[in-house]
Amino acid sequence: MTALDAVSVITVKRDGGELSDAQIDWVVDAFTKGNVADEQMSALAMAILWRGMSRRETARWTAAMIASGSRMDFTDLPRPTVDKHSTGGVGDKITLPLAPLVAACGAAVPQLSGRGLGHTGGTLDKLEAIPGWQADLTVTRMREILTDPAIGAVVCAAGADLAPADKRLYALRDVTGTVESIPLIASSIMSKKIAEGTAALVLDVKVGSGAFLKTLDGARELATAMVELGRDAGVQTVALLTAMDTPLGRTAGNALEVAESVEVLAGGGPADVVELTLTLAREMVAQAGLHTDPADALADGRAMDHWRAMISAQGGEPDAALPVARHTEIVRAETSGVLTRLDAMGVGIAAWSLGAGRARQGERVQAGAGVEMHAKPGDSVVAGQPLFTLHTDTPEAFSRAIEALAGAVGVEGAPEGKPGELVLGRIG
Ligand code: URA
Repeated sequence: MTALDAVSVITVKRDGGELSDAQIDWVVDAFTKGNVADEQMSALAMAILWRGMSRRETARWTAAMIASGSRMDFTDLPRPTVDKHSTGGVGDKITLPLAPLVAACGAAVPQLSGRGLGHTGGTLDKLEAIPGWQADLTVTRMREILTDPAIGAVVCAAGADLAPADKRLYALRDVTGTVESIPLIASSIMSKKIAEGTAALVLDVKVGSGAFLKTLDGARELATAMVELGRDAGVQTVALLTAMDTPLGRTAGNALEVAESVEVLAGGGPADVVELTLTLAREMVAQAGLHTDPADALADGRAMDHWRAMISAQGGEPDAALPVARHTEIVRAETSGVLTRLDAMGVGIAAWSLGAGRARQGERVQAGAGVEMHAKPGDSVVAGQPLFTLHTDTPEAFSRAIEALAGAVGVEGAPEGKPGELVLGRIG
């Protein structure tokens, strides 16, 4: 093929061919400029979903996504940069304690985050529950915060100029059934992380009922593709595969998760949140070439100091009371026994329907809404004891949330054994 036009590019991929570098560069650039129509890009996304992309094609596609906008550069910062990305799960508040903890260990953490869509919560939605906290920062302000040794971590919204082709393509994939393509997911995530300018990256690829990828094989394939893309682009990248069959911690919902994260920073909090925070922090500190044990920075209060400084630097009031929902309802155990199952997807849908998440981009979320879990798998429960407290400003949402939770819980007479491992594998 010599001529560069959308129909030819689509038909090459439709028929199982490999796209050349020139074809990929052209189609992404033309799409960004509005010269390839949405329906043509959607057809190409569907062809890629069915036919896949080689490692070379995926790397080139990622580079073209990055080139559609501007790339940040933090190489002149006095400290090594390292970031984490999670593919998303229920109750996944790990970024909140993790970013200040890793900053307290001497790294700079430049995290560009998103808002939630569907049953998984977004980090920005959680932080926006803190009175005064602002997600939008200029690059100059980001750089000041990252340079300040008392802060060192920033979590903010990605600007419009960060991989704009991905933003448009993701919106199309969302409405054309083409999200579930490993090369498209890998290039979408990695184009934003590479453009963000971090030197090192730790990926937390979630596996299980509450994750985007339900099987270990699928998660391993995605993790491998992302690690290869990171390394090809000069970003030191590793991935952990972690379980997401059960929600992380005991809360799902914005302000509820902030409160739980502060408990972790204060030296308490649920064991699984502490374990995953420390595991990811150790990986990040190692990738940054530092030799500090994050457990010390958590125990001696340095991580909490960095959290307070990080929240204040973005206009938030770390001591302000968090928003509380206007209505609560308790869901009780129907039988006695051992809790053997607490399905992450059911809890995610319950929290979302109570108002903690959004169904469409741009919708407002309720800061106080969500689900508190009073028992986790392995705990003994007695009939009539509270299993969940539901929080919402819109009490008509209770019935839908209760319905979602009814199928999420298993209570058996005899325990099935210990709850499963949290970390299931490591790539890189
Ligand atoms: N998250 C992203 O940023 N992109 C995808 O394609 C899927 C999840």
